Amino acid sequence: MSCAVRYYSRTGNTKALADAIAEATGTRAISVDAADAAVPAPVDVLFIGGALYAYGIDSHLKGYLKSLKSHDAVEAVVFSTSWVSKHAIDLIKKGLEEAGIPTADDVLYVRSKPDADHLKEAAVFALRFV
Ligand SMILES: Cc1cc2nc3c(=O)[nH]c(=O)nc-3n(C[C@H](O)[C@H](O)[C@H](O)COP(=O)(O)O)c2cc1C
Repeated sequence: MSCAVRYYSRTGNTKALADAIAEATGTRAISVDAADAAVPAPVDVLFIGGALYAYGIDSHLKGYLKSLKSHDAVEAVVFSTSWVSKHAIDLIKKGLEEAGIPTADDVLYVRSKPDADHLKEAAVFALRFV
């Protein structure tokens, strides 16, 4: 089963989850503003994560979601970090819905900076989808 991991992270918290997911699934986590962020070939599972900033998601992630096509992934799995609110998950899911990519009901969410246990949890979570 093929997968890809994409994320946007300003201060590293969401990147830590992305890296744990990527390591568990044997791929590389790529920031959505990287030159190679486009999904090169359709994947079974696209893990996609972002954080909440002033009750919104970063414009880089918004733009990336808009660039996605329905054939890029069979299913997307969303992960996020924030201080309190899980609203980024809703916003990312909305972008995926607009792109025509179905999203898994289960999501991964951690408050602020993931610790070692959270990173283990992220790996276990990711392996359920691949
Ligand atoms: C400018 C700014 C605005 C934020 N706004 C919110 C917010 O509205 N609600 C919330 O729960 N967390 C908010 N946060 C907390 C971030 O979502 C949280 O620190 C997150 O883990 C950052 O992820 P990152 O390290 O991947 O960038 C904000 C953080 C910053 C720096």
